[in-house]
Amino acid sequence: MNNQQRDPKTIGKIRRTAALLILLGVLGFAGFRCTGKLREKPDGSGSTATLSQITATEAQSAAPAESPAAPPTDAPTEAPTEPPTEPPTEPPTEPDESWKLTLVNRWNALPEDYDVSLVTLSNGRSVDERIYPDLQAMFDAARAAGLSPMVREGFRTHSDQEAIMNERIAGYEAEGYSEEEARQKAEEYVAIPGTSEHELGLAVDINSTSEDAWGLYNWLAQNAHEYGFILRYPEGKESITGIDYEPWHYRYVGKEAAAEIYSQQVTLEEYLQ
Ligand code: DAL
Ligand code: ZN
Repeated sequence: MNNQQRDPKTIGKIRRTAALLILLGVLGFAGFRCTGKLREKPDGSGSTATLSQITATEAQSAAPAESPAAPPTDAPTEAPTEPPTEPPTEPPTEPDESWKLTLVNRWNALPEDYDVSLVTLSNGRSVDERIYPDLQAMFDAARAAGLSPMVREGFRTHSDQEAIMNERIAGYEAEGYSEEEARQKAEEYVAIPGTSEHELGLAVDINSTSEDAWGLYNWLAQNAHEYGFILRYPEGKESITGIDYEPWHYRYVGKEAAAEIYSQQVTLEEYLQ
């Protein structure tokens, strides 16, 4: 059957259907072109990104620049252990040197809890171990100068000091002095127990093993400060020190203080004022 055999209604329906198909075809082509452009990469190479990849890309581009990067896939699953840290170091503190200038005299007794670490010398005397190296150096220098020093007295216990004081008092009493006079005379040379530098372990009575005692005393008076020792009871300073002149009694105060005390010709009491 050809067109001429169909009725006008049928021919109209066929034309409308054909027109509709053409229109749908045109719209379908346009939709394909539009979708293709949206899925292209910026470089025009075409996109194969899946939905999840696009979402991740957008999330990244929207993230602030300083956001931490995603952890690497091989990151350990366990929480990392803290790196070992050094314990905080205290700033270095200066060693306490105040012991060198401990003042004891008839007006200032030894501290109640005074403790001392002693070193025993070859002749059985002992001194505070802290003064030993300088004492040895001083004796070496004196011997190099032709002198013969020896430590006649070093550290004394409180009982030692009491015994020495009682012996001296008894001696004066034997000479006919009253007990009070004997005590006063004894205290001119012997410190009241509890106030002696020998109880500190920081003092030495130095004598000579030869006849030349004054040669040694003079050398000590001129050189002992270089080793940290001072002539503790100088002549003419009895009212300040409370003790008569003793050319043999040397007290360790350290080199710095000894140099100043020597150059200023003062006593420890005056130096500490
Ligand atoms: N000879 C001194 C003063 C003392 O006994 O410590
Ligand atoms: Zn002494």
